[in-house]
Amino acid sequence: KDDRIHRITSAIRVIPDFPKPGILFQDITTLLLDPVAFKDTIDLFVERYKDKGITVVAGVEARGFIFGPPIALAIGAKFVPMRKPNKLPGAVISEEYSLEYGTDKIEMHVGAVEPGDRALVIDDLIATGGTLCAAISLLERVGAHVVECACVIELPELKGRDRLGGKPLFVLVSS
Ligand code: PRP
Ligand code: MG
Repeated sequence: KDDRIHRITSAIRVIPDFPKPGILFQDITTLLLDPVAFKDTIDLFVERYKDKGITVVAGVEARGFIFGPPIALAIGAKFVPMRKPNKLPGAVISEEYSLEYGTDKIEMHVGAVEPGDRALVIDDLIATGGTLCAAISLLERVGAHVVECACVIELPELKGRDRLGGKPLFVLVSS
């Protein structure tokens, strides 16, 4: 196996019972403390997407804002933030998604993504897939083609992948 994947896996800290009992939290802040592992992470995504005609990298607040921009810069695509509600100052379109209890929402500026854009959606982690599913919907509603979703970590037991309506999902670490 790619020793870069091994280094990335080792740099992610797992914290039991956060934010509540029974949850094994995958903490990427320790990955950010390791410049080699962080660079490996970005490089692996850039190698995969540099020749795929991606015109927009969409990152989901908050942790998609860490990984998305360096990838966008390296592949020459624009970066578009998908934010939690009521944070963006301009006109927005929004998409609701379900959580374990209740719902949440993400928003994107109108005009940031246009028909014909080829999008890559980036987040740190896929759990139930609700967040990525909402991101895909937002992009498709404005006429973009979602080429792929990419995450550092997948929690496969939660079967979030099945919620993406057949959209390809690329992950570096599956735990
Ligand atoms: C976490 C994680 C993903 C999302 C995955 O973000 O960063 O964005 O949950 O869960 P899902 O696949 O079940 O939708 P969170 O909403 O906790 O917020 P943050 O990134 O702002 O910390
Ligand atoms: Mg998040």
